[in-house]
Amino acid sequence: MAVLAIRKYGDPILRKKAIKVAEFDAALQQAAANMIETMQAAKGIGLAANQVGQTHALCVVDVGLITEGAPPQAFVNPVILQESGKEVGYEEGCLSIPDVNEEVMRKERILIRYQDLTGAEHEQECEGTLARVLQHETDHLNGVFFVDRLSPLRRKLLSKKLKAIAEEAMQELRQNRR
Ligand code: NI
Repeated sequence: MAVLAIRKYGDPILRKKAIKVAEFDAALQQAAANMIETMQAAKGIGLAANQVGQTHALCVVDVGLITEGAPPQAFVNPVILQESGKEVGYEEGCLSIPDVNEEVMRKERILIRYQDLTGAEHEQECEGTLARVLQHETDHLNGVFFVDRLSPLRRKLLSKKLKAIAEEAMQELRQNRR
């Protein structure tokens, strides 16, 4: 297993729509294991594949924070089929947008369809923190950041900070290409 570098806001891969996973092989399991290790090293509760520079539709979530004792879980090809309940506000952060935490409004319940690492399909109703994290990660796989969901005013107030993160991300990309 390996801890991977986390791509930051401004890195073009974070705006790309993920590609559907078709092969449920050892490489996919390895990718998920690396993402779990990376998420844990960064003390995150969720991570999407494009955040570590990969294009497949895969995210991992530390469901142990929600269900005590449960191991981190991989969600392959996740699709939110239904959102329901009230719109609730919750302060979100993101490993790709360091030091930015903002209240985001989302629906409190979702019905999600996903595959596990063996390819088996599941449909699950979630609420609370799990629904929140899965909405955030599914957004990533569609090229969307939580800051995109803020009001124009909030985004404007953050624009300098976001610009600085993006400049750093581009610098890192240039260095890694050398
Ligand atoms: Ni995130």
